[in-house]
Amino acid sequence: RNIVILISGTGSNMRAIAAAAERDQWPERFGARVAAVISNRPEAKGLAWAREHGLETQVVDHRAYATREAFDEALARVIDGYEQPQEPALVVLAGFMRILTPGFVERYAGRLLNIHPSLLPAFPGLHTHQRVIAAGCRVAGATVHEVTAELDHGPILEQAAVPVLPCDTPEQLAARVLSQEHRIYPQAIAQWLRRHRAVAA
Ligand code: GRF
Repeated sequence: RNIVILISGTGSNMRAIAAAAERDQWPERFGARVAAVISNRPEAKGLAWAREHGLETQVVDHRAYATREAFDEALARVIDGYEQPQEPALVVLAGFMRILTPGFVERYAGRLLNIHPSLLPAFPGLHTHQRVIAAGCRVAGATVHEVTAELDHGPILEQAAVPVLPCDTPEQLAARVLSQEHRIYPQAIAQWLRRHRAVAA
């Protein structure tokens, strides 16, 4: 199974996933590998790291497309270049800051995952840590979910909770949540791969 990871920036979740794939022997155990790291931004820092670590990278610059649909169509064409016969790619959004069209989501239904930095269904959307602190929450966290047409609302695969401390700034809370993201995303993907392992030919 080819795994394609989509990023827009640092790519710390992508790094955690790539490291887990190697450390936990995903190729041997699930016949799965990280086939490509794709970004909508040519300057995404995660691209340099991916290249240095021998991962194939692609850029589909959203600024080059007049409409959301045209961008998604170009992105899908690149992703489908990593399909294997009988085994569609697993598409992993990791810090990917684009809203995907319903047509794109439909095309990858059931094999399109995302990680969101809140305990969904609470706090969908942006600036979650700032909003959590403003709401006076005592716990925060992250959610791995399947992507559906409704933003940040698909079936939940994994969650992790962290405490919100009285003096927390959004940055401090973000760092605490991010470290849990790096633990639960690889875990959720490994479970997905185990569940969807190709039936032995
Ligand atoms: C972080 O805010 C993370 O919580 C969310 O996307 C942002 C960047 O993540 N998932 P990454 O370092 O690019 O993986």
